[in-house]
Amino acid sequence: MRTGEGEGRATSDDGENRPVRRLSAWDDDELADLAATYETPLYVMDLERVRENCRRLHEAFPDADVRYAAKAHTGRVVLETVRTEGLAIECASAGEVERAFAAGAAGDEVQYTAVNPPDRDLDIVVRRWENDPGLTITVGARDTVERLRDRGFDGRLCVRVNPGVGAGHHEKVTTGGHAKFGVPYSEAASVVRDACDDFEVVGIHAHAGSGISGDDLSAHREVVRRMGDLARDVSAFVDLEFVDVGGGFGVPYREDEPPLDLPNVAEATREALGDVDAQLAVEPGRYVVADAGVLLATVNTVKESAEYETLVGIDAGMTTLLRPAMYDAYHAVQNLSAEDARDAIPVTVAGPICETSDVLCEHRPLAAPARGDVLAVGNAGAYGYEMASTYNSRPRPAEVVLDPDPRLARRREPLAALTELER
Ligand code: LLP
Repeated sequence: MRTGEGEGRATSDDGENRPVRRLSAWDDDELADLAATYETPLYVMDLERVRENCRRLHEAFPDADVRYAAKAHTGRVVLETVRTEGLAIECASAGEVERAFAAGAAGDEVQYTAVNPPDRDLDIVVRRWENDPGLTITVGARDTVERLRDRGFDGRLCVRVNPGVGAGHHEKVTTGGHAKFGVPYSEAASVVRDACDDFEVVGIHAHAGSGISGDDLSAHREVVRRMGDLARDVSAFVDLEFVDVGGGFGVPYREDEPPLDLPNVAEATREALGDVDAQLAVEPGRYVVADAGVLLATVNTVKESAEYETLVGIDAGMTTLLRPAMYDAYHAVQNLSAEDARDAIPVTVAGPICETSDVLCEHRPLAAPARGDVLAVGNAGAYGYEMASTYNSRPRPAEVVLDPDPRLARRREPLAALTELER
């Protein structure tokens, strides 16, 4: 067992407030046992770390309403865990709303953020609201307001604003400033005013982007400042319950990257918001689950050649963890079977998908891998399983949770599931 000082597995009674849990802090032997028992590729989620992250958010934002952006990981046990820690659930689709209710959430714990919502989503969510009027719907376009009115919805409404400023770890996750999201800032007050006639307008919302690091803090601050101004503007005609400034708090993916100073971000957020007669709300996803998860994979091929770096083929690919292929994202990798026994060599690690982009990492020093070795991939808890697909007809992996004993949370998708829907 190699547990980094102050960065190890959280236990309920250690009272620590670790800002980060790195891959090296996981228990190698325990992970290797899980790979042997449940086979690979396998996601492992440590629910105690999820709880710890929830508590750290509450501590940093003691007066705020902390919501969990379910899109980072919608597994039922994760939703149940964050609910138990007092987080409401922010949902991006009717499917996520259904999952939130299935995890036991009451309507007043559910916010549905409609992004160019299909009719079907609106139908399902409005039907839910009819039985559970505490549910809040966030709209990002004038015509979504009309579509809700047409469906008889007159409940809790929040207006998503495009703050005109964005931030994030990659251009593909920079939200603020993209026409797709929210009503333009200049029109926001009038959309809120018009909506007041037919709905209970409870909030305004903006999200700058995902994976905000220290460098992006000024963009985050600017978004919050604009939201504070807007809240004060609209207070002339509506009593807002909350101002939701989105999620996006980054986590360190690289081993030497410092963690976000969350109390500092919280202070900057409060300062930028200024005096508003409404509660601050935040809705992080990644921050809650990223470092609570690892992905385990088995080496199936080692290819040496004079021309190329050693190629290590594993049984997890871009269909298991899409982030490297989609965002060039960095994830720490360790060879659990040889970490202390073999010297590190530079390797390229690739998956079994027939695509050039199916590469987990390149030029990475890794304890010389051999066939059958088990590799662990860090920070896989957010947008990991969630973005898995069945491309190349490769069934989705299994998932185990530690609570603290391991149990299967999602079984491996069987091959038969691939053709199940076909007629
Ligand atoms: N709220 C809204 C309205 C969002 O669109 C998002 C993320 C969040 C909250 C949560 O952001 P977070 O705290 O997790 O950064 N698949 C990408 C991330 C896409 C995020 C999309 N929206 C990735 O793997 O990096």
